[in-house]
Amino acid sequence: MEQTFLMVKPDGVQRNLIGEIVSRFEKKGFQLKGAKLMSIPTELAEEHYGEHKERPFFGELVDFITSGPVFAMVWEGENVIATARQMMGATNPKDAVPGSIRGDFAVTVGKNVIHGSDSKESAEREIGLFFKEEQIVEYKKLINDWSN
Ligand code: TYD
Ligand code: MG
Repeated sequence: MEQTFLMVKPDGVQRNLIGEIVSRFEKKGFQLKGAKLMSIPTELAEEHYGEHKERPFFGELVDFITSGPVFAMVWEGENVIATARQMMGATNPKDAVPGSIRGDFAVTVGKNVIHGSDSKESAEREIGLFFKEEQIVEYKKLINDWSN
């Protein structure tokens, strides 16, 4: 079953959006497999966003993501990687449709509330960066047969 890495960014944590965001993925029918509130060390931030190393916004991005606690999560479900990206909305909140997380809760690209893996490869890499194997919990959803 597919897994993805999602993270409420420091702006989302400060704005009390953890519950709202978790709730959306729960109600959609995905399964939470791991979660933790944490501060991201600079080295981890630089590695996580390594693909953007040469971009002009890299410094600000690393400063922002390390500026306060984040809520890191592993979610599982059918097509969860692409579906979570759709539920997040476009990277720039001005292009994110209403109904999406960024469309409903964000205004600027610098503070866009949530991170989500963009491919199977990113998901595997990011889950591995943020979670130890024993922090991902294997369990059966007992009353979830209606959504999957
Ligand atoms: P990116 O991986 O392109 O977006 P996404 O988060 O949707 O996968 O960029 C990572 C983050 O970098 C993005 O969430 C916000 C920030 N960013 C900027 O600050 N300015 C920019 O022009 C871009 C493209 C991203
Ligand atoms: Mg990205």
